[in-house]
Amino acid sequence: MKPKILVARAIFPEVLARLEQHFEVESNQQDHIYSAEQLLAAARGRDGLFTTPSEPVNAALFAANPQLRAVCNMAVGYNNIDLAAATSAGVMATNTPDVLNETTADFGWALMMATARRITESEHFLRAGKWKKWSYDSFVGPDVHGATLGVIGMGRIGQAIARRSLGFDMQVLYHNRSRLAPELEARANNAQYVSKQELLQRADHVVLVLPYSKATHHTIGAAELELMKPGATLTNIARGGIVDDDALIAALAAGRIAAAGIDVFENEPAFKPGFLGLSNVVLTPHIASASTPTRLAMANCAADNLIAALSGETPPNLLNPEVVGRA
Ligand code: GLV
Repeated sequence: MKPKILVARAIFPEVLARLEQHFEVESNQQDHIYSAEQLLAAARGRDGLFTTPSEPVNAALFAANPQLRAVCNMAVGYNNIDLAAATSAGVMATNTPDVLNETTADFGWALMMATARRITESEHFLRAGKWKKWSYDSFVGPDVHGATLGVIGMGRIGQAIARRSLGFDMQVLYHNRSRLAPELEARANNAQYVSKQELLQRADHVVLVLPYSKATHHTIGAAELELMKPGATLTNIARGGIVDDDALIAALAAGRIAAAGIDVFENEPAFKPGFLGLSNVVLTPHIASASTPTRLAMANCAADNLIAALSGETPPNLLNPEVVGRA
């Protein structure tokens, strides 16, 4: 008998077809968004779950589903999964690292550039029929080339962002839980390891690429925004909750920093309405990894993990190896 899985969100039909070769699949191609309680109930009788960052996978779900053996998230971030609870329940949890590094770094740059160079604000002006004349000072903003880039969270995506700065003749500062090996710093456009405080004080463009956890909650709040240069920009492609959105809205409204580019929000897809009244913020709906090839690679990576996990192999991207032999 084939193992039973739940695919908790709509996914590429070809990936669903692949999963159907291995599993008895309960799919959700109508893309209903499960509450935590609904997901718990939908997981009944299932050996594995294919999830995305929108599904909260918590201790109650593990307690109600002792048959569960694997939860495979289609994302590099996995803060939607209570990993400690998965581990104590003996459930393998996996993510999709690496396949999205370059696409996400491209987007970090796109958002940072759009923010610094006021792309969406000026497009809205044009679309609203307000463009009557060329002016020496219309939509002027900071330069990107030759400026100092500050990357907070220097994992694989942070390093890919730093590498791209070589062509822009930028100096790179970074802050991370730990310092990179010298050869990685060299490859990341000779990135210089500094304290968070020094980075915020010196960088012209700050980009956030760190994972969300209790420890990184509100890494950027009012005090940190206060340290930034008045003409600086802040770009968040990491996770909602890493920035205190109320503090950011207040700083942008006061012109404390030049502008922000925000792809992720506290409690998304809900977001603070205060953002909408600001012209100096570029807002995107959590799309940093959204190129077609990369989203397909992420879906296939999650499928590979699920197929391995439920056929007695160690999945390639296992987050809690302590459960091997117990699941
Ligand atoms: C997307 O946000 C991811 O974590 O992959």
